[in-house]
Amino acid sequence: MSASYPALRLRRSRASAWSRRLHAETVLTPADLIWPLFIAEGKGVEEPIASLPGVSRWSVDGIVARAKEARDLGIACIALFPNTPAHLRSDDGCEALNPDNLMCRAIRALKDAVPEVGVLTDVALDPYTSHGHDGLVDAAGYVVNDATATLLVEQALNQARAGADIIAPSDMMDGRIGMIRDALEREGAHNVQIMSYAAKYASGFYGPFRDAVGSRGLLKGDKKTYQMDSANAEEALREVALDLAEGADSVMVKPGLPYLDIILRVKTAFEVPVFAYQVSGEYAMIEASVAAGAGERDVLVLETLMAFKRAGCSGVLTYHAAHAARLLNG
Ligand code: PBG
Repeated sequence: MSASYPALRLRRSRASAWSRRLHAETVLTPADLIWPLFIAEGKGVEEPIASLPGVSRWSVDGIVARAKEARDLGIACIALFPNTPAHLRSDDGCEALNPDNLMCRAIRALKDAVPEVGVLTDVALDPYTSHGHDGLVDAAGYVVNDATATLLVEQALNQARAGADIIAPSDMMDGRIGMIRDALEREGAHNVQIMSYAAKYASGFYGPFRDAVGSRGLLKGDKKTYQMDSANAEEALREVALDLAEGADSVMVKPGLPYLDIILRVKTAFEVPVFAYQVSGEYAMIEASVAAGAGERDVLVLETLMAFKRAGCSGVLTYHAAHAARLLNG
Protein backbone atom coordinates (compact mmCIF):
# COMPACT_ATOMS: atom_id res chain seq x y z
CA MET A 1 0.00 0.00 0.00
CA SER A 2 1.53 3.30 -1.05
CA ALA A 3 -0.39 5.90 0.92
CA SER A 4 -1.09 6.20 4.61
CA TYR A 5 -3.62 8.14 6.67
CA PRO A 6 -4.86 10.79 6.06
CA ALA A 7 -4.13 10.46 2.33
CA LEU A 8 -5.46 6.95 2.59
CA ARG A 9 -8.98 6.74 3.99
CA LEU A 10 -10.65 3.39 3.29
CA ARG A 11 -13.96 4.88 4.39
CA ARG A 12 -14.04 7.12 1.28
CA SER A 13 -15.26 4.30 -0.93
CA ARG A 14 -17.91 3.32 1.63
CA ALA A 15 -19.46 6.75 1.99
CA SER A 16 -22.36 6.24 -0.43
CA ALA A 17 -24.51 3.36 -1.61
CA TRP A 18 -23.52 3.74 -5.28
CA SER A 19 -19.85 3.60 -4.31
CA ARG A 20 -20.32 0.55 -2.10
CA ARG A 21 -22.02 -1.15 -5.05
CA LEU A 22 -19.17 -0.11 -7.34
CA HIS A 23 -16.54 -1.54 -5.01
CA ALA A 24 -18.29 -4.80 -4.19
CA GLU A 25 -15.80 -7.65 -4.71
CA THR A 26 -18.47 -10.33 -4.66
CA VAL A 27 -21.89 -10.57 -6.25
CA LEU A 28 -24.87 -12.60 -5.15
CA THR A 29 -27.73 -13.22 -7.59
CA PRO A 30 -30.75 -15.55 -7.66
CA ALA A 31 -28.82 -17.65 -10.21
CA ASP A 32 -26.44 -18.60 -7.38
CA LEU A 33 -29.20 -20.30 -5.44
CA ILE A 34 -30.44 -23.89 -5.23
CA TRP A 35 -33.78 -24.26 -3.45
CA PRO A 36 -34.27 -27.52 -1.48
CA LEU A 37 -37.90 -28.73 -1.49
CA PHE A 38 -39.57 -31.55 0.45
CA ILE A 39 -42.09 -33.72 -1.37
CA ALA A 40 -45.23 -35.15 0.24
CA GLU A 41 -47.58 -37.83 -1.10
CA GLY A 42 -51.04 -36.72 -2.28
CA LYS A 43 -52.56 -33.84 -4.21
CA GLY A 44 -53.04 -30.26 -3.09
CA VAL A 45 -51.10 -31.07 0.09
CA GLU A 46 -49.03 -28.57 2.07
CA GLU A 47 -47.57 -29.81 5.36
CA PRO A 48 -45.72 -27.18 7.43
CA ILE A 49 -42.60 -28.46 9.23
CA ALA A 50 -42.61 -27.24 12.84
CA SER A 51 -38.83 -27.22 13.30
CA LEU A 52 -38.38 -25.35 9.97
CA PRO A 53 -40.82 -22.44 10.36
CA GLY A 54 -41.81 -21.13 6.93
CA VAL A 55 -40.90 -24.37 5.12
CA SER A 56 -43.48 -26.97 4.06
CA ARG A 57 -43.63 -30.31 2.34
CA TRP A 58 -45.60 -30.06 -0.89
CA SER A 59 -47.31 -32.71 -2.98
CA VAL A 60 -46.02 -32.99 -6.55
CA ASP A 61 -48.44 -30.33 -7.87
CA GLY A 62 -47.16 -27.91 -5.21
CA ILE A 63 -43.56 -28.77 -6.09
CA VAL A 64 -44.31 -27.83 -9.70
CA ALA A 65 -45.82 -24.54 -8.50
CA ARG A 66 -42.67 -23.84 -6.44
CA ALA A 67 -40.51 -24.56 -9.49
CA LYS A 68 -42.49 -22.04 -11.51
CA GLU A 69 -41.95 -19.55 -8.70
CA ALA A 70 -38.22 -20.40 -8.79
CA ARG A 71 -38.10 -19.83 -12.55
CA ASP A 72 -39.87 -16.47 -12.25
CA LEU A 73 -37.46 -15.43 -9.49
CA GLY A 74 -34.39 -16.45 -11.50
CA ILE A 75 -33.40 -19.33 -9.18
CA ALA A 76 -31.21 -21.73 -11.12
CA CYS A 77 -32.05 -25.09 -9.65
CA ILE A 78 -34.16 -26.94 -7.12
CA ALA A 79 -33.15 -29.88 -4.93
CA LEU A 80 -35.64 -32.60 -4.06
CA PHE A 81 -36.13 -34.67 -0.89
CA PRO A 82 -39.05 -37.07 -0.47
CA ASN A 83 -40.96 -37.83 2.71
CA THR A 84 -41.59 -41.49 1.94
CA PRO A 85 -44.82 -42.90 3.43
CA ALA A 86 -44.02 -45.12 6.43
CA HIS A 87 -45.36 -48.33 4.85
CA LEU A 88 -42.86 -47.97 1.98
CA ARG A 89 -39.80 -47.72 4.25
CA SER A 90 -37.79 -50.89 4.71
CA ASP A 91 -34.46 -52.15 6.03
CA ASP A 92 -32.91 -52.03 2.56
CA GLY A 93 -34.65 -48.83 1.41
CA CYS A 94 -35.66 -50.50 -1.86
CA GLU A 95 -38.36 -47.89 -2.52
CA ALA A 96 -35.42 -45.72 -3.66
CA LEU A 97 -35.20 -47.98 -6.74
CA ASN A 98 -38.89 -47.79 -7.64
CA PRO A 99 -39.25 -45.89 -10.95
CA ASP A 100 -42.62 -44.60 -9.74
CA ASN A 101 -41.53 -43.47 -6.30
CA LEU A 102 -42.39 -39.98 -5.05
CA MET A 103 -39.01 -38.62 -6.14
CA CYS A 104 -39.29 -39.90 -9.73
CA ARG A 105 -42.88 -38.68 -10.09
CA ALA A 106 -41.77 -35.23 -8.95
CA ILE A 107 -38.77 -35.20 -11.32
CA ARG A 108 -40.94 -36.14 -14.31
CA ALA A 109 -43.60 -33.55 -13.44
CA LEU A 110 -40.95 -30.85 -13.08
CA LYS A 111 -39.09 -31.64 -16.28
CA ASP A 112 -42.44 -31.71 -18.08
CA ALA A 113 -43.79 -28.41 -16.70
CA VAL A 114 -40.68 -26.31 -15.95
CA PRO A 115 -37.76 -27.75 -17.94
CA GLU A 116 -35.76 -24.54 -17.67
CA VAL A 117 -35.13 -25.03 -13.94
CA GLY A 118 -32.41 -27.52 -13.00
CA VAL A 119 -33.38 -30.51 -10.87
CA LEU A 120 -30.86 -31.84 -8.35
CA THR A 121 -31.62 -35.14 -6.65
CA ASP A 122 -30.18 -36.52 -3.44
CA VAL A 123 -28.64 -39.99 -3.52
CA ALA A 124 -28.75 -41.72 -0.11
CA LEU A 125 -31.13 -44.22 1.40
CA ASP A 126 -32.21 -42.37 4.55
CA PRO A 127 -35.61 -41.16 3.30
CA TYR A 128 -36.42 -44.77 2.39
CA THR A 129 -35.00 -46.88 5.25
CA SER A 130 -36.85 -47.98 8.36
CA HIS A 131 -33.73 -47.23 10.47
CA GLY A 132 -32.99 -43.76 9.07
CA HIS A 133 -29.43 -44.54 7.97
CA ASP A 134 -28.11 -43.60 4.53
CA GLY A 135 -27.15 -47.19 3.70
CA LEU A 136 -27.55 -50.85 4.57
CA VAL A 137 -26.96 -51.75 8.22
CA ASP A 138 -25.37 -55.05 9.29
CA ALA A 139 -26.16 -57.09 12.41
CA ALA A 140 -23.74 -54.99 14.47
CA GLY A 141 -25.45 -51.76 13.37
CA TYR A 142 -22.59 -50.77 11.03
CA VAL A 143 -23.48 -49.11 7.73
CA VAL A 144 -21.78 -51.34 5.15
CA ASN A 145 -20.00 -49.58 2.33
CA ASP A 146 -19.84 -51.71 -0.81
CA ALA A 147 -23.32 -53.23 -0.79
CA THR A 148 -24.70 -49.75 -0.11
CA ALA A 149 -22.73 -48.23 -2.98
CA THR A 150 -24.15 -50.86 -5.35
CA LEU A 151 -27.68 -49.81 -4.36
CA LEU A 152 -26.82 -46.13 -4.65
CA VAL A 153 -25.76 -46.67 -8.25
CA GLU A 154 -29.22 -48.09 -8.97
CA GLN A 155 -30.85 -45.20 -7.11
CA ALA A 156 -28.86 -42.68 -9.15
CA LEU A 157 -29.77 -44.40 -12.42
CA ASN A 158 -33.43 -44.43 -11.37
CA GLN A 159 -33.29 -40.66 -10.83
CA ALA A 160 -31.38 -40.00 -14.04
CA ARG A 161 -33.87 -42.04 -16.07
CA ALA A 162 -36.69 -39.93 -14.61
CA GLY A 163 -34.89 -36.79 -15.83
CA ALA A 164 -32.68 -35.56 -12.99
CA ASP A 165 -30.09 -33.00 -14.15
CA ILE A 166 -27.68 -33.23 -11.20
CA ILE A 167 -27.12 -36.37 -9.17
CA ALA A 168 -26.00 -35.38 -5.67
CA PRO A 169 -24.77 -38.30 -3.54
CA SER A 170 -25.00 -37.30 0.13
CA ASP A 171 -24.29 -40.71 1.62
CA MET A 172 -20.48 -40.51 2.14
CA MET A 173 -19.80 -44.12 1.09
CA ASP A 174 -16.31 -44.67 -0.33
CA GLY A 175 -16.04 -45.22 -4.07
CA ARG A 176 -19.60 -44.40 -5.07
CA ILE A 177 -18.84 -41.38 -7.25
CA GLY A 178 -16.77 -43.45 -9.67
CA MET A 179 -19.34 -46.23 -9.70
CA ILE A 180 -22.19 -43.80 -10.42
CA ARG A 181 -20.18 -42.01 -13.10
CA ASP A 182 -19.39 -45.33 -14.86
CA ALA A 183 -23.02 -46.35 -14.75
CA LEU A 184 -24.20 -43.02 -16.14
CA GLU A 185 -21.67 -43.24 -18.99
CA ARG A 186 -22.80 -46.78 -19.78
CA GLU A 187 -26.40 -45.48 -19.97
CA GLY A 188 -25.35 -42.75 -22.38
CA ALA A 189 -26.29 -40.14 -19.77
CA HIS A 190 -23.20 -38.09 -20.65
CA ASN A 191 -24.61 -34.74 -19.58
CA VAL A 192 -26.02 -35.75 -16.24
CA GLN A 193 -23.88 -33.94 -13.68
CA ILE A 194 -22.62 -35.27 -10.37
CA MET A 195 -22.40 -32.80 -7.50
CA SER A 196 -20.79 -34.79 -4.76
CA TYR A 197 -21.45 -34.03 -1.12
CA ALA A 198 -17.69 -34.51 -0.80
CA ALA A 199 -17.07 -32.95 2.60
CA LYS A 200 -20.14 -33.77 4.59
CA TYR A 201 -19.75 -33.60 8.33
CA ALA A 202 -21.59 -35.55 11.03
CA SER A 203 -23.45 -32.52 12.29
CA GLY A 204 -25.94 -31.38 14.87
CA PHE A 205 -27.40 -29.03 12.29
CA TYR A 206 -29.42 -31.67 10.36
CA GLY A 207 -32.23 -32.15 12.92
CA PRO A 208 -35.03 -30.21 11.18
CA PHE A 209 -34.21 -31.92 7.85
CA ARG A 210 -34.70 -35.30 9.49
CA ASP A 211 -38.12 -34.10 10.68
CA ALA A 212 -38.91 -32.99 7.14
CA VAL A 213 -38.08 -36.36 5.56
CA GLY A 214 -39.50 -38.26 8.54
CA SER A 215 -36.29 -39.99 9.58
CA ARG A 216 -35.53 -38.31 12.93
CA GLY A 217 -37.64 -40.66 15.06
CA LEU A 218 -36.35 -43.69 13.15
CA LEU A 219 -32.62 -43.01 13.28
CA LYS A 220 -30.70 -45.42 15.47
CA GLY A 221 -27.41 -44.02 16.73
CA ASP A 222 -25.53 -41.42 14.74
CA LYS A 223 -23.83 -41.16 11.34
CA LYS A 224 -20.25 -40.79 12.58
CA THR A 225 -18.96 -43.95 10.90
CA TYR A 226 -19.59 -42.41 7.48
CA GLN A 227 -19.95 -38.64 7.82
CA MET A 228 -16.85 -36.61 8.70
CA ASP A 229 -15.55 -35.51 12.08
CA SER A 230 -15.83 -31.75 12.60
CA ALA A 231 -12.22 -31.76 13.83
CA ASN A 232 -10.89 -32.50 10.34
CA ALA A 233 -9.94 -30.29 7.41
CA GLU A 234 -7.14 -32.20 5.64
CA GLU A 235 -9.47 -35.16 5.39
CA ALA A 236 -11.97 -32.93 3.57
CA LEU A 237 -9.32 -32.19 0.95
CA ARG A 238 -8.73 -35.92 0.49
CA GLU A 239 -12.46 -36.55 0.12
CA VAL A 240 -12.70 -33.81 -2.49
CA ALA A 241 -9.61 -35.07 -4.37
CA LEU A 242 -11.07 -38.58 -4.54
CA ASP A 243 -14.50 -37.47 -5.71
CA LEU A 244 -13.00 -35.26 -8.42
CA ALA A 245 -10.75 -38.10 -9.57
CA GLU A 246 -13.79 -40.37 -9.73
CA GLY A 247 -15.69 -37.95 -11.97
CA ALA A 248 -17.59 -35.43 -9.85
CA ASP A 249 -18.36 -32.22 -11.78
CA SER A 250 -18.66 -30.14 -8.64
CA VAL A 251 -18.29 -30.67 -4.92
CA MET A 252 -20.23 -29.61 -1.89
CA VAL A 253 -19.30 -28.68 1.65
CA LYS A 254 -21.98 -29.29 4.26
CA PRO A 255 -23.05 -27.77 6.65
CA GLY A 256 -22.24 -24.28 5.43
CA LEU A 257 -21.45 -21.41 7.75
CA PRO A 258 -19.57 -23.41 10.44
CA TYR A 259 -17.35 -24.79 7.64
CA LEU A 260 -16.43 -21.66 5.65
CA ASP A 261 -12.76 -22.50 6.24
CA ILE A 262 -13.27 -25.80 4.44
CA ILE A 263 -14.95 -24.04 1.51
CA LEU A 264 -12.04 -21.65 1.15
CA ARG A 265 -9.44 -24.42 1.40
CA VAL A 266 -11.24 -26.60 -1.14
CA LYS A 267 -11.64 -23.71 -3.58
CA THR A 268 -7.99 -22.65 -3.18
CA ALA A 269 -6.61 -26.17 -3.52
CA PHE A 270 -8.70 -27.43 -6.44
CA GLU A 271 -10.15 -24.44 -8.36
CA VAL A 272 -13.31 -26.36 -9.18
CA PRO A 273 -16.97 -25.39 -8.67
CA VAL A 274 -17.71 -25.59 -4.95
CA PHE A 275 -21.18 -25.42 -3.46
CA ALA A 276 -22.30 -25.04 0.14
CA TYR A 277 -25.40 -26.41 1.79
CA GLN A 278 -26.74 -23.93 4.32
CA VAL A 279 -28.52 -26.73 6.13
CA SER A 280 -31.80 -26.96 8.00
CA GLY A 281 -30.32 -26.19 11.42
CA GLU A 282 -28.67 -23.07 10.03
CA TYR A 283 -32.00 -21.94 8.59
CA ALA A 284 -33.68 -22.68 11.93
CA MET A 285 -30.99 -20.71 13.75
CA ILE A 286 -31.68 -17.62 11.64
CA GLU A 287 -35.43 -17.99 12.11
CA ALA A 288 -34.99 -18.47 15.88
CA SER A 289 -32.89 -15.33 16.00
CA VAL A 290 -35.60 -13.42 14.15
CA ALA A 291 -38.32 -14.81 16.43
CA ALA A 292 -36.30 -13.80 19.51
CA GLY A 293 -35.93 -10.27 18.20
CA ALA A 294 -32.16 -10.73 18.08
CA GLY A 295 -31.68 -10.30 14.34
CA GLU A 296 -33.38 -9.17 11.14
CA ARG A 297 -34.20 -11.89 8.66
CA ASP A 298 -33.43 -10.01 5.44
CA VAL A 299 -30.05 -8.85 6.66
CA LEU A 300 -29.04 -12.24 8.08
CA VAL A 301 -30.13 -14.10 4.94
CA LEU A 302 -28.23 -11.86 2.52
CA GLU A 303 -25.16 -11.59 4.75
CA THR A 304 -24.81 -15.34 5.22
CA LEU A 305 -25.35 -16.07 1.53
CA MET A 306 -22.80 -13.43 0.55
CA ALA A 307 -20.33 -15.06 2.97
CA PHE A 308 -20.54 -18.29 0.97
CA LYS A 309 -19.87 -16.46 -2.28
CA ARG A 310 -16.95 -14.57 -0.72
CA ALA A 311 -15.46 -17.83 0.55
CA GLY A 312 -15.44 -19.15 -3.01
CA CYS A 313 -18.76 -20.85 -3.62
CA SER A 314 -20.32 -21.01 -7.06
CA GLY A 315 -23.70 -21.38 -5.40
CA VAL A 316 -25.58 -22.24 -2.24
CA LEU A 317 -28.38 -24.62 -1.31
CA THR A 318 -30.62 -22.67 1.03
CA TYR A 319 -34.18 -22.93 2.33
CA HIS A 320 -34.22 -19.13 2.16
CA ALA A 321 -33.71 -19.23 -1.64
CA ALA A 322 -37.09 -17.79 -2.64
CA HIS A 323 -36.97 -15.11 0.04
CA ALA A 324 -33.38 -14.18 -0.87
CA ALA A 325 -34.23 -14.05 -4.58
CA ARG A 326 -37.15 -11.71 -3.88
CA LEU A 327 -34.85 -9.43 -1.90
CA LEU A 328 -32.18 -9.53 -4.61
CA ASN A 329 -34.73 -8.80 -7.33
CA GLY A 330 -35.78 -5.75 -5.32
C1 PBG B 1 -29.35 -37.31 3.85
C2 PBG B 1 -29.21 -35.84 3.91
C3 PBG B 1 -29.20 -35.06 5.06
C4 PBG B 1 -29.22 -33.75 4.64
C5 PBG B 1 -29.21 -33.75 3.24
N1 PBG B 1 -29.19 -35.05 2.80
C6 PBG B 1 -29.28 -35.44 6.49
C7 PBG B 1 -28.34 -36.40 7.07
O1 PBG B 1 -27.28 -36.68 6.52
O2 PBG B 1 -28.69 -36.92 8.12
C8 PBG B 1 -29.28 -32.58 5.56
C9 PBG B 1 -29.79 -31.30 4.98
C10 PBG B 1 -30.25 -30.32 5.98
O3 PBG B 1 -30.08 -30.47 7.20
O4 PBG B 1 -30.83 -29.33 5.54
N2 PBG B 1 -28.35 -38.07 3.38
